[in-house]
Amino acid sequence: MQVTVVVPTYNEAPNVAELVRRVAAATPSLDLEILFVDDSTDDTPRVIEQVAETAPIPVRMLHREDSVGGLSGAVVAGLQAAHADVCIVMDGDLQHPPEDIVNLVARHARGDVDVVVASRYTENGENGGLSNALRVFVSQASTNLTKALFPKKLKNVTDPMTGFFLVDRTAFDVNDLKPRGFKILLEILARESLRVAEIPFSFQSRHAGESKASLAQGLSFLTQLFALRFGRMSLFAVIGALGAVANVVIMWMLVHTGVNYMVAAIISAEVTIIGNFVLQERFVFHDMKEQASAIWSRFVKSFGFNNAEAAVRIAILPIMVEALHISSVMATAITLVVAFFVRFAFHKFVVYAP
Ligand code: GDD
Ligand code: MN
Repeated sequence: MQVTVVVPTYNEAPNVAELVRRVAAATPSLDLEILFVDDSTDDTPRVIEQVAETAPIPVRMLHREDSVGGLSGAVVAGLQAAHADVCIVMDGDLQHPPEDIVNLVARHARGDVDVVVASRYTENGENGGLSNALRVFVSQASTNLTKALFPKKLKNVTDPMTGFFLVDRTAFDVNDLKPRGFKILLEILARESLRVAEIPFSFQSRHAGESKASLAQGLSFLTQLFALRFGRMSLFAVIGALGAVANVVIMWMLVHTGVNYMVAAIISAEVTIIGNFVLQERFVFHDMKEQASAIWSRFVKSFGFNNAEAAVRIAILPIMVEALHISSVMATAITLVVAFFVRFAFHKFVVYAP
């Protein structure tokens, strides 16, 4: 087997037969298999099985019940299960023309790169398939932002968000990837140091069905980008900072409606701790939740720790000021910084421990 074409599918039943037909027709000189990695809730798996029986080339399917990591998780599972080391990733809706597979393979055959990106934005590439002006704008803005955040690694890449590319599995350890969201190529390029080339391609309209991209995916892309560039701790810090602002705002509102300031301080602190937990679950440790303990147990640990931490931090202040003669502002700053790191470590290694 020379090439495995990894195709992630989520409810793509009307596209499967046409995709297999065109891939087979376009690659007569290649020893190639198609591997569908399917998370569908409709009859796509049944259609894939049917098409596989009569297909002129080997067609396999990995049907996942857990859907871990969504689209990116599916691609990584495909790279792991592929029979060939040279893998091509493409969408199942024919927005990526199968006729370009041979161009990807030919570029890789020159032997000087590990990844070949099929780009909409390089010379002769086209982006006709993006359905409306808003998506074109979002696509271009996020491409520019991404390139700005990874100037070195993406220097020669015009389309880091494309879903159409070739990777040589022998060039890196697939198990190192931490797949999430929609942008698996970015994950590969940002994490690994790989030699990359591009070929142009023309992004088409969908053959049938509809896109699974959403606003939630856009948001998760931004956090993925941030975490890749600055690390998990920086996301934790951003959320902590938002919490601190919320804490002050809630306190101010309560005091202004006549609540006693000590009561207001306690209420605003607890509301902030709970709010932080929710955001943390969603954005900072989302990929660690599955292997960690149950949500109520995570909440008890997190809530308990944050309360204990606040109590200790405040109790330590007079000791630092009286015994160590540190100014109260300085002492507060030191305890807050130390608390931040301890809190992050506690969450990473205890609350979200596998
Ligand atoms: N297995 C699996 N699991 N497949 C999925 C999932 C999932 O959770 N979500 C989407 N897919 C599959 C779809 O069935 C399709 O084959 C492919 O992934 C792309 O999904 P679309 O819903 O068609 O996404 P798109 O066209 O909006 O986005 C594509 O173009 C973008 C560039 O504009 C993707 O290729 C993106 O990766 C790419 O950035
Ligand atoms: Mn699509």
